Amino acid sequence: MNILLTGGTGYIGSHNAVVLAQAGHEAILFDNLCNSSKDVVQRLEKIIGKPITFIEGDVRNTELLVEVMRNHQVDAVIHFAGLKAVGESVANPLLYFANNVQGTISLLLAMQQLEIKTFIFSSSATVYGEPVYLPYDEAHPTNPINAYGDTKLQVEIILRDLAKSDPQWKIACLRYFNPVGAHESGFIGDDPSGIPGNLMPYLARVASGSLQYLSVFGKDYETRDGTGERDYIHVMDLAEGHMAALDFLANNSGLHVVNLGTGKPASVLECVKAFEGAVGKNLPIQFAPRRDGDLPIYFAKADLAKEKLGWIAARTLDEMCASAWHFQQVQSSQSKSSTEST
Ligand code: NAD
Ligand code: WQD
Repeated sequence: MNILLTGGTGYIGSHNAVVLAQAGHEAILFDNLCNSSKDVVQRLEKIIGKPITFIEGDVRNTELLVEVMRNHQVDAVIHFAGLKAVGESVANPLLYFANNVQGTISLLLAMQQLEIKTFIFSSSATVYGEPVYLPYDEAHPTNPINAYGDTKLQVEIILRDLAKSDPQWKIACLRYFNPVGAHESGFIGDDPSGIPGNLMPYLARVASGSLQYLSVFGKDYETRDGTGERDYIHVMDLAEGHMAALDFLANNSGLHVVNLGTGKPASVLECVKAFEGAVGKNLPIQFAPRRDGDLPIYFAKADLAKEKLGWIAARTLDEMCASAWHFQQVQSSQSKSSTEST
């Protein structure tokens, strides 16, 4: 199949491109490069061993989307394009609603115009908000506690009504937990610009020495060791979950909301320990106050993905940390050699 990956040069989209290409699909990457760089395309071509189509553009440009999807005879769309920084969303909600909600409406209108009705959406566990119970299953109430989560929930509501209006739509709404790690090559991974907000890329920079120490946000939570617990999932498991969803949609119409997580929470200190195991040395940490907006613990009930998609997340926390560390080392050596050659 010809599959359009909006946000395809981003962290999760690029890993999906590898899995799709290796399964024999044609991935067409569409990205405005607001949070990724074009050199991801060349890195992907090194991994998959063949050219990959990349088109620079914004999902809010409906006409361009129609032209691209018509020219490439797109059969299905996986929609990764979106802004995802929680703090930024609270400070600038209009930017997030314009990009994440209007952008998705634009994409769906273009698809409808071309009668393309197979759609996978990158949703987030953030839609659940404060846990009424744990683990979160897909029936858990959805009450986001930030504008970013609101944009994801708004899109889910749009998809629900769209599926009700036209039974030909085949839609998977995948609620990701905490994607981490990198492809085994080390050519692609989570490489945020500036100081990382997320734990794993921050740990990688501490391990490489480019950041001094990790601030552990809170050690008095009611968790195993007092630090926050999350459901970390290897980005390659996540990509394989999208492949499973695509196969499922081939024979199933309607809207299908599914958690993509491991169901096994890990604390900040457990992540530090696993990362130290990957690096082979202790990493400096300092305990700091809780971070505003953080929940103590959340993790997935992952059963529905297994029942519906025949998919489970198989990779361990140690493998997640080892791949993140390998990616950091490859990036550091590449940037070192590029500065030496200039
Ligand atoms: P990312 O920022 O690495 O990738 C998103 C990509 O979309 C970037 O390459 C960016 O340039 C592009 N983009 C953004 N707005 C665009 C627009 N208007 N038009 C075209 N391209 C646009 O983020 P990611 O971690 O790969 O996340 C991918 C998706 O998964 C996002 O929708 C995000 O909300 C969702 N998600 C991410 C996480 C996570 O922790 N990484 C968790 C749950 C859900
Ligand atoms: C994980 C744990 C922190 C950094 C975010 C978004 C969520 C989703 C996934 C998009 C927490 C602790 C972190 C640090 C720390 N993204 N931490 N020191 O906040 O669970 O989820 O990414 O959908 O919407 O909110 O991920 O990696 O920021 O934090 O102690 O320097 O690590 O307190 O317990 P989070 P995170």
